[in-house]
Amino acid sequence: MIPIARPQLGEEEKRLVWETMESGLLAQGPRVREFEERFAELIGTSHGVATSSGTTALHLALLGYGIGPGDEVITVPFTFIASANSVLYTGARPVLVDVDARDFNMDPALVEAAITPRTRALMPVSLYGQPAQMDVLAEIAERRGIALIEDACQSHAASIGERRSGTWGAGTFSFYPTKNMTTGEGGMLTTDDGELAERVRLLREHGMKVRYHHDVVGWNFRMTDIAAAIGLAQIEKLDGYNARRREIAARYDAELRGVVTPYVRPGVTHVYHQYTIRVRERDAFAEALKARGVGSAIYYPIPVHRQTPFVALGYGSESYPVTELLTGQVLSIPVHPSLSEDEVTTVIQAVNATASELGTLEVEASRA
Ligand SMILES: Cc1ncc(COP(=O)(O)O)c(C=O)c1O
Repeated sequence: MIPIARPQLGEEEKRLVWETMESGLLAQGPRVREFEERFAELIGTSHGVATSSGTTALHLALLGYGIGPGDEVITVPFTFIASANSVLYTGARPVLVDVDARDFNMDPALVEAAITPRTRALMPVSLYGQPAQMDVLAEIAERRGIALIEDACQSHAASIGERRSGTWGAGTFSFYPTKNMTTGEGGMLTTDDGELAERVRLLREHGMKVRYHHDVVGWNFRMTDIAAAIGLAQIEKLDGYNARRREIAARYDAELRGVVTPYVRPGVTHVYHQYTIRVRERDAFAEALKARGVGSAIYYPIPVHRQTPFVALGYGSESYPVTELLTGQVLSIPVHPSLSEDEVTTVIQAVNATASELGTLEVEASRA
Protein backbone atom coordinates (compact mmCIF):
# COMPACT_ATOMS: atom_id res chain seq x y z
CA MET A 1 0.00 0.00 0.00
CA ILE A 2 1.35 3.43 -0.89
CA PRO A 3 0.72 5.40 2.32
CA ILE A 4 -0.81 8.89 2.43
CA ALA A 5 2.18 10.13 4.46
CA ARG A 6 5.71 8.90 5.19
CA PRO A 7 7.88 11.08 7.49
CA GLN A 8 11.52 11.14 6.36
CA LEU A 9 14.12 11.17 9.11
CA GLY A 10 17.78 10.41 8.47
CA GLU A 11 21.31 10.41 9.83
CA GLU A 12 21.37 14.16 10.37
CA GLU A 13 18.33 14.05 12.65
CA LYS A 14 19.86 11.12 14.57
CA ARG A 15 23.17 12.92 15.01
CA LEU A 16 21.62 16.17 16.27
CA VAL A 17 19.23 14.37 18.61
CA TRP A 18 22.08 12.26 20.00
CA GLU A 19 24.25 15.35 20.54
CA THR A 20 21.37 17.02 22.34
CA MET A 21 20.87 14.01 24.59
CA GLU A 22 24.57 13.96 25.40
CA SER A 23 24.55 17.68 26.19
CA GLY A 24 22.18 17.03 29.09
CA LEU A 25 20.01 19.99 28.02
CA LEU A 26 16.77 18.32 27.04
CA ALA A 27 14.01 20.86 27.68
CA GLN A 28 13.79 24.30 26.05
CA GLY A 29 17.34 25.56 25.65
CA PRO A 30 19.93 26.58 23.06
CA ARG A 31 18.62 24.37 20.26
CA VAL A 32 15.13 25.80 20.58
CA ARG A 33 16.62 29.29 20.37
CA GLU A 34 18.62 28.35 17.27
CA PHE A 35 15.62 26.67 15.66
CA GLU A 36 13.50 29.77 16.28
CA GLU A 37 16.08 31.99 14.62
CA ARG A 38 16.56 29.69 11.65
CA PHE A 39 12.84 29.18 11.08
CA ALA A 40 12.04 32.91 11.33
CA GLU A 41 14.82 33.55 8.81
CA LEU A 42 13.41 30.90 6.49
CA ILE A 43 9.93 32.41 6.65
CA GLY A 44 11.12 36.01 6.54
CA THR A 45 10.03 37.43 9.91
CA SER A 46 12.06 39.05 12.66
CA HIS A 47 10.73 36.71 15.37
CA GLY A 48 9.99 33.04 15.81
CA VAL A 49 8.61 31.56 19.04
CA ALA A 50 8.69 27.77 19.24
CA THR A 51 5.83 25.97 20.97
CA SER A 52 4.80 22.46 21.89
CA SER A 53 2.41 22.18 18.91
CA GLY A 54 0.61 24.09 16.18
CA THR A 55 -2.44 24.16 18.42
CA THR A 56 -0.56 25.87 21.25
CA ALA A 57 0.97 28.33 18.75
CA LEU A 58 -2.58 29.30 17.68
CA HIS A 59 -3.72 29.53 21.30
CA LEU A 60 -0.76 31.74 22.23
CA ALA A 61 -1.22 33.98 19.17
CA LEU A 62 -4.79 34.71 20.29
CA LEU A 63 -3.74 35.29 23.91
CA GLY A 64 -0.86 37.45 22.72
CA TYR A 65 -3.37 39.74 21.04
CA GLY A 66 -5.35 39.85 24.28
CA ILE A 67 -8.33 37.97 22.86
CA GLY A 68 -10.73 36.50 25.42
CA PRO A 69 -14.35 36.21 26.59
CA GLY A 70 -16.77 38.45 24.72
CA ASP A 71 -14.55 38.62 21.62
CA GLU A 72 -15.12 37.09 18.21
CA VAL A 73 -12.58 35.61 15.82
CA ILE A 74 -13.45 34.91 12.20
CA THR A 75 -12.22 31.59 10.86
CA VAL A 76 -13.45 28.83 8.50
CA PRO A 77 -15.49 25.65 8.97
CA PHE A 78 -13.37 23.75 6.41
CA THR A 79 -10.26 23.08 8.49
CA PHE A 80 -8.71 20.89 11.16
CA ILE A 81 -10.57 21.37 14.45
CA ALA A 82 -7.58 23.06 16.14
CA SER A 83 -8.20 26.34 14.30
CA ALA A 84 -11.64 26.81 15.87
CA ASN A 85 -10.80 25.09 19.17
CA SER A 86 -7.95 27.52 19.85
CA VAL A 87 -10.51 30.34 19.81
CA LEU A 88 -12.74 28.46 22.26
CA TYR A 89 -9.80 27.96 24.65
CA THR A 90 -9.57 31.74 25.12
CA GLY A 91 -13.28 32.11 25.88
CA ALA A 92 -13.85 33.97 22.59
CA ARG A 93 -16.36 32.83 19.97
CA PRO A 94 -15.29 31.47 16.59
CA VAL A 95 -17.39 33.02 13.82
CA LEU A 96 -17.26 30.86 10.70
CA VAL A 97 -17.25 32.09 7.10
CA ASP A 98 -17.35 29.79 4.12
CA VAL A 99 -14.44 28.96 1.83
CA ASP A 100 -13.88 29.48 -1.88
CA ALA A 101 -14.64 26.31 -3.85
CA ARG A 102 -11.57 26.73 -6.04
CA ASP A 103 -8.75 27.07 -3.50
CA PHE A 104 -10.54 25.69 -0.38
CA ASN A 105 -9.52 28.78 1.62
CA MET A 106 -11.43 31.61 3.37
CA ASP A 107 -13.56 33.55 0.88
CA PRO A 108 -12.57 37.20 1.43
CA ALA A 109 -15.86 38.35 -0.14
CA LEU A 110 -17.73 36.96 2.89
CA VAL A 111 -15.55 38.47 5.58
CA GLU A 112 -16.82 42.06 5.84
CA ALA A 113 -20.39 40.91 6.51
CA ALA A 114 -19.17 38.72 9.39
CA ILE A 115 -17.33 41.55 11.17
CA THR A 116 -19.13 42.95 14.24
CA PRO A 117 -18.02 45.38 16.97
CA ARG A 118 -16.81 42.28 18.88
CA THR A 119 -14.52 41.01 16.12
CA ARG A 120 -10.89 41.05 17.26
CA ALA A 121 -9.13 38.93 14.65
CA LEU A 122 -9.30 37.15 11.32
CA MET A 123 -7.89 33.64 11.34
CA PRO A 124 -7.68 32.32 7.78
CA VAL A 125 -6.25 28.84 7.24
CA SER A 126 -3.77 28.21 4.43
CA LEU A 127 -5.10 24.76 3.71
CA TYR A 128 -3.24 21.91 2.00
CA GLY A 129 -0.16 24.09 1.37
CA GLN A 130 -1.70 27.01 -0.54
CA PRO A 131 -1.75 30.40 1.22
CA ALA A 132 -5.17 31.89 1.83
CA GLN A 133 -5.62 35.26 0.09
CA MET A 134 -3.49 36.88 2.78
CA ASP A 135 -2.87 40.11 0.88
CA VAL A 136 -6.61 40.75 0.48
CA LEU A 137 -7.37 39.69 4.06
CA ALA A 138 -4.52 41.85 5.42
CA GLU A 139 -6.08 44.87 3.75
CA ILE A 140 -9.46 44.13 5.39
CA ALA A 141 -7.87 43.51 8.81
CA GLU A 142 -5.87 46.72 8.62
CA ARG A 143 -8.85 48.82 7.49
CA ARG A 144 -11.11 47.38 10.19
CA GLY A 145 -8.45 47.59 12.93
CA ILE A 146 -8.41 43.89 13.77
CA ALA A 147 -5.60 41.38 14.17
CA LEU A 148 -4.63 38.82 11.54
CA ILE A 149 -3.52 35.33 12.56
CA GLU A 150 -2.69 32.98 9.70
CA ASP A 151 -3.11 29.30 10.49
CA ALA A 152 -0.10 28.31 8.39
CA CYS A 153 0.12 24.86 9.99
CA GLN A 154 0.03 23.28 6.50
CA SER A 155 1.94 25.87 4.46
CA HIS A 156 5.63 25.85 5.38
CA ALA A 157 7.49 28.08 2.88
CA ALA A 158 4.45 28.54 0.63
CA SER A 159 4.24 32.05 -0.78
CA ILE A 160 2.26 34.71 -2.59
CA GLY A 161 4.81 36.24 -4.92
CA GLU A 162 7.96 36.50 -2.83
CA ARG A 163 6.09 36.77 0.47
CA ARG A 164 5.81 33.61 2.52
CA SER A 165 2.97 32.26 4.61
CA GLY A 166 3.49 33.37 8.18
CA THR A 167 4.64 36.94 7.40
CA TRP A 168 1.26 38.69 7.77
CA GLY A 169 0.35 39.64 11.36
CA ALA A 170 1.07 36.41 13.20
CA GLY A 171 1.73 33.06 11.50
CA THR A 172 1.37 29.72 13.23
CA PHE A 173 3.01 26.50 12.10
CA SER A 174 2.75 22.83 13.05
CA PHE A 175 5.60 20.32 12.94
CA TYR A 176 3.44 17.23 13.38
CA PRO A 177 5.04 14.17 11.66
CA THR A 178 2.91 14.32 8.50
CA LYS A 179 3.67 18.01 7.87
CA ASN A 180 6.14 19.24 5.23
CA MET A 181 8.76 19.29 8.00
CA THR A 182 8.55 17.79 11.47
CA THR A 183 9.88 17.92 15.01
CA GLY A 184 7.72 14.98 16.19
CA GLU A 185 5.28 17.33 17.87
CA GLY A 186 5.92 21.05 17.79
CA GLY A 187 4.85 24.44 16.56
CA MET A 188 6.04 27.97 15.88
CA LEU A 189 4.66 31.47 15.90
CA THR A 190 6.25 33.86 13.42
CA THR A 191 5.81 37.63 13.43
CA ASP A 192 7.49 40.98 12.84
CA ASP A 193 5.74 42.37 15.90
CA GLY A 194 8.34 42.35 18.68
CA GLU A 195 5.82 43.10 21.42
CA LEU A 196 3.57 40.23 20.36
CA ALA A 197 6.56 37.86 20.32
CA GLU A 198 7.56 39.04 23.82
CA ARG A 199 4.05 38.47 25.23
CA VAL A 200 3.85 35.05 23.63
CA ARG A 201 7.23 34.06 25.11
CA LEU A 202 5.99 35.12 28.53
CA LEU A 203 2.71 33.21 28.22
CA ARG A 204 4.56 30.12 26.95
CA GLU A 205 6.52 29.91 30.20
CA HIS A 206 4.13 30.46 33.08
CA GLY A 207 4.36 34.24 32.77
CA MET A 208 7.99 34.08 33.87
CA LYS A 209 10.81 36.35 32.68
CA VAL A 210 12.88 36.19 35.86
CA ARG A 211 13.06 32.69 37.30
CA TYR A 212 10.12 31.99 39.62
CA HIS A 213 8.75 35.51 39.29
CA HIS A 214 5.40 35.11 37.56
CA ASP A 215 4.03 38.32 36.05
CA VAL A 216 0.86 36.80 34.59
CA VAL A 217 -0.84 33.41 34.51
CA GLY A 218 0.77 31.51 31.67
CA TRP A 219 1.16 27.96 30.44
CA ASN A 220 3.86 25.42 29.74
CA PHE A 221 3.71 25.36 25.94
CA ARG A 222 7.46 24.97 25.43
CA MET A 223 9.22 22.93 22.77
CA THR A 224 12.02 20.59 23.90
CA ASP A 225 15.60 20.84 22.66
CA ILE A 226 15.26 17.25 21.41
CA ALA A 227 12.37 18.28 19.16
CA ALA A 228 14.26 21.41 18.05
CA ALA A 229 17.26 19.22 17.12
CA ILE A 230 15.04 17.28 14.71
CA GLY A 231 13.70 20.58 13.39
CA LEU A 232 17.20 21.93 12.75
CA ALA A 233 17.95 18.95 10.54
CA GLN A 234 14.57 19.14 8.81
CA ILE A 235 14.85 22.84 8.04
CA GLU A 236 17.81 22.08 5.79
CA LYS A 237 15.71 19.64 3.82
CA LEU A 238 12.48 21.62 3.52
CA ASP A 239 13.23 23.28 0.17
CA GLY A 240 14.16 19.92 -1.35
CA TYR A 241 11.08 18.24 0.10
CA ASN A 242 8.82 21.02 -1.19
CA ALA A 243 10.42 20.90 -4.64
CA ARG A 244 9.77 17.16 -4.81
CA ARG A 245 6.14 17.64 -3.68
CA ARG A 246 5.69 20.23 -6.45
CA GLU A 247 7.28 17.92 -9.01
CA ILE A 248 4.88 15.11 -8.10
CA ALA A 249 1.95 17.56 -8.15
CA ALA A 250 2.96 18.67 -11.66
CA ARG A 251 2.77 15.08 -12.87
CA TYR A 252 -0.65 14.65 -11.28
CA ASP A 253 -1.85 17.93 -12.83
CA ALA A 254 -0.74 16.75 -16.26
CA GLU A 255 -1.78 13.11 -16.10
CA LEU A 256 -4.88 12.74 -13.92
CA ARG A 257 -8.20 12.38 -15.77
CA GLY A 258 -11.84 12.56 -14.67
CA VAL A 259 -11.21 14.28 -11.34
CA VAL A 260 -10.88 17.95 -10.35
CA THR A 261 -7.22 18.71 -9.70
CA PRO A 262 -6.16 21.53 -7.33
CA TYR A 263 -6.53 25.13 -8.45
CA VAL A 264 -3.48 27.28 -7.77
CA ARG A 265 -3.91 31.05 -7.67
CA PRO A 266 -1.67 32.99 -10.06
CA GLY A 267 1.61 34.02 -8.44
CA VAL A 268 1.24 31.52 -5.61
CA THR A 269 3.81 28.89 -4.67
CA HIS A 270 1.76 25.94 -3.43
CA VAL A 271 3.78 23.50 -1.31
CA TYR A 272 1.28 20.61 -1.53
CA HIS A 273 1.07 19.57 2.08
CA GLN A 274 -1.77 17.64 0.50
CA TYR A 275 -2.66 17.05 -3.12
CA THR A 276 -6.43 17.11 -2.85
CA ILE A 277 -8.69 16.16 -5.71
CA ARG A 278 -12.47 16.33 -5.97
CA VAL A 279 -14.18 13.19 -7.14
CA ARG A 280 -17.57 11.59 -7.67
CA GLU A 281 -18.69 8.87 -5.26
CA ARG A 282 -15.88 9.85 -2.92
CA ASP A 283 -16.15 7.01 -0.38
CA ALA A 284 -16.35 4.36 -3.11
CA PHE A 285 -13.45 6.13 -4.85
CA ALA A 286 -11.28 5.82 -1.73
CA GLU A 287 -12.18 2.12 -1.40
CA ALA A 288 -11.30 1.49 -5.05
CA LEU A 289 -7.94 3.21 -4.64
CA LYS A 290 -7.23 1.06 -1.60
CA ALA A 291 -8.01 -2.06 -3.61
CA ARG A 292 -5.43 -0.83 -6.15
CA GLY A 293 -2.80 -0.38 -3.42
CA VAL A 294 -3.10 3.39 -3.04
CA GLY A 295 -3.78 5.01 0.32
CA SER A 296 -5.82 8.21 0.51
CA ALA A 297 -7.42 10.37 3.19
CA ILE A 298 -10.31 12.75 3.68
CA TYR A 299 -9.34 16.13 5.12
CA TYR A 300 -11.88 16.68 6.61
CA PRO A 301 -14.92 14.39 6.67
CA ILE A 302 -16.90 16.56 9.13
CA PRO A 303 -16.76 20.37 9.04
CA VAL A 304 -16.23 22.32 12.27
CA HIS A 305 -19.88 23.36 12.71
CA ARG A 306 -21.04 19.73 12.56
CA GLN A 307 -18.57 18.43 15.17
CA THR A 308 -20.27 17.37 18.42
CA PRO A 309 -18.93 20.14 20.74
CA PHE A 310 -19.81 22.81 18.18
CA VAL A 311 -23.30 21.43 17.70
CA ALA A 312 -23.67 21.60 21.49
CA LEU A 313 -22.60 25.26 21.31
CA GLY A 314 -25.40 25.97 18.83
CA TYR A 315 -23.50 25.86 15.51
CA GLY A 316 -25.40 22.84 14.21
CA SER A 317 -28.01 24.76 12.26
CA GLU A 318 -25.52 26.99 10.44
CA SER A 319 -25.00 26.25 6.79
CA TYR A 320 -21.88 26.72 4.70
CA PRO A 321 -22.74 25.45 1.23
CA VAL A 322 -19.23 25.39 -0.26
CA THR A 323 -17.77 23.65 2.79
CA GLU A 324 -20.58 21.12 2.72
CA LEU A 325 -20.09 20.49 -1.00
CA LEU A 326 -16.33 20.03 -0.59
CA THR A 327 -16.70 17.85 2.49
CA GLY A 328 -18.45 15.27 0.32
CA GLN A 329 -15.99 15.44 -2.59
CA VAL A 330 -12.41 15.95 -1.38
CA LEU A 331 -9.87 13.17 -1.36
CA SER A 332 -6.16 13.60 -0.72
CA ILE A 333 -3.77 11.27 -2.51
CA PRO A 334 -0.11 10.59 -1.65
CA VAL A 335 2.24 13.48 -2.55
CA HIS A 336 4.98 13.06 0.05
CA PRO A 337 8.56 13.54 -1.14
CA SER A 338 9.63 9.95 -0.60
CA LEU A 339 7.39 8.64 -3.40
CA SER A 340 9.32 7.02 -6.24
CA GLU A 341 8.43 7.74 -9.87
CA ASP A 342 6.97 4.23 -10.06
CA GLU A 343 4.76 4.92 -7.07
CA VAL A 344 3.60 8.18 -8.64
CA THR A 345 2.73 6.25 -11.81
CA THR A 346 0.81 3.69 -9.74
CA VAL A 347 -1.19 6.48 -8.09
CA ILE A 348 -1.98 8.07 -11.47
CA GLN A 349 -3.09 4.77 -13.00
CA ALA A 350 -5.23 3.94 -9.95
CA VAL A 351 -6.95 7.35 -9.91
CA ASN A 352 -7.60 7.32 -13.66
CA ALA A 353 -8.93 3.76 -13.66
CA THR A 354 -11.20 4.53 -10.69
CA ALA A 355 -12.49 7.75 -12.26
CA SER A 356 -13.36 5.94 -15.47
CA GLU A 357 -15.27 3.34 -13.45
CA LEU A 358 -17.14 5.76 -11.19
CA GLY A 359 -17.62 8.64 -13.63
CA THR A 360 -16.18 12.10 -14.12
CA LEU A 361 -17.00 14.89 -11.68
CA GLU A 362 -18.70 17.76 -13.50
CA VAL A 363 -16.36 20.60 -12.63
CA GLU A 364 -18.46 23.56 -13.70
CA ALA A 365 -21.62 22.29 -12.08
CA SER A 366 -19.78 21.66 -8.84
CA ARG A 367 -18.22 25.12 -8.73
CA ALA A 368 -21.36 26.78 -7.50
C1 LIG B 1 -4.83 23.58 9.67
C2 LIG B 1 -4.25 23.10 10.97
N1 LIG B 1 -4.36 23.86 12.06
C3 LIG B 1 -3.83 23.51 13.24
C4 LIG B 1 -3.15 22.31 13.38
C5 LIG B 1 -2.66 21.92 14.74
O1 LIG B 1 -1.32 21.56 14.77
P1 LIG B 1 -0.81 20.46 15.83
O2 LIG B 1 -1.34 19.14 15.41
O3 LIG B 1 0.68 20.57 15.73
O4 LIG B 1 -1.31 20.89 17.16
C6 LIG B 1 -2.99 21.48 12.26
C7 LIG B 1 -2.24 20.22 12.35
O5 LIG B 1 -2.67 19.15 12.41
C8 LIG B 1 -3.57 21.88 11.04
O6 LIG B 1 -3.48 21.09 9.96
